[in-house]
Amino acid sequence: MSHACVRRAHDVFERSFGREPEWIARAPGRVNLIGEHTDYNEGFVLPMAIDRFVVVAGSPTIHEKRSRLVAADLGEMREVDVTRTVAEGSFVDYAIGVLQALGDRGIEPPPFEAVIASNLPRGSGLSSSAALDVALTLFFARLAGAEIAPLDVALVAQAAENRFVGVQCGIMDPFVIAHGRDGCALKIDCRAMVGEEVPARIDGFDWQVLHSGVVRALAKSEYNQRRAECERAVAAVRARHPEVRALRDVSIEEIEEATLDDVARRRARHVIAENERVVACERALRRCDVTTIGRLFAESHASLRDLYEVSCPELDERVARARAEGAVAARMTGAGFGGSILALSANGVRPRTTGLDVGIVSPTGVEPRCWRTRD
Ligand code: GLA
Repeated sequence: MSHACVRRAHDVFERSFGREPEWIARAPGRVNLIGEHTDYNEGFVLPMAIDRFVVVAGSPTIHEKRSRLVAADLGEMREVDVTRTVAEGSFVDYAIGVLQALGDRGIEPPPFEAVIASNLPRGSGLSSSAALDVALTLFFARLAGAEIAPLDVALVAQAAENRFVGVQCGIMDPFVIAHGRDGCALKIDCRAMVGEEVPARIDGFDWQVLHSGVVRALAKSEYNQRRAECERAVAAVRARHPEVRALRDVSIEEIEEATLDDVARRRARHVIAENERVVACERALRRCDVTTIGRLFAESHASLRDLYEVSCPELDERVARARAEGAVAARMTGAGFGGSILALSANGVRPRTTGLDVGIVSPTGVEPRCWRTRD
């Protein structure tokens, strides 16, 4: 109960519902070191869960049949109607999406009252929405008395986003959030859905999340469009190589010889090379080889800018500035179209920060979990 954010959720619950919450659920945000737009192509990613998180404090209702949810940071209370079929564009959508995905698995919590509080800035590319999905999944599963394994938590969170919220996101964010471990990044094979721990603390260096100044816009439609372009590339390669299932299976030669439009070809080139960079970066991280990490970050950023076209001038400028101010590695992180960059700098050699910057993040100590307040 010590953390300010947990206390805030607890206090807002008491003020809103006149009693103590019975359960507290918590899930961290994440930053992706490398492997961008590879997860939904069944490739590799290398994210780490961080020391910022989302908290859900709540209880079953006493007499009330309706469920209600409060967003402490917005000062708003909404009713949660699980039978809704259309998202309304508010925080309630996440709860409805998660409840529906749990319902598909036969997990049905009783009516509830709950409060969300968070110290993860939204629109920064730190996956505040997946963290919320995971915290809600843990909370609802507890209310229903159901045990749910981390991989299933991740799949429920992804289903909530894909089917209800309307973003066709991959497994990376909920997977790393549901499996977060202190001090580690996870190299995730997004086809096998298996994560391998990679130590992510580098002695003498800090990871920093620096904001581009552009809160992510257009992300949903552009993101879904990128997915469709990758599928177009796969379909073209499959004409000659029917065994191919995803861009994960495709070589650069196969993309070059396929009959394909230029846009889809460039998207595929990015994905194929980015998968290789994940493997190389994992090795470099294990050796604490910051020079190689710097080179791989630079290649990844250029590829996201020129081939995948998900960067923007403000992100490019922030990366250039961080490098000029002493970062040994810097690149945009997350889906793109604004949000943040990730920089690696020697202790004391800090790029200048602005008000929007998250600043130094460390590979979490905050494991996802749900606990009873009275224990
Ligand atoms: C978003 C999605 C992830 C992933 C990244 C891009 O964060 O939620 O699944 O596709 O974009 O790497």
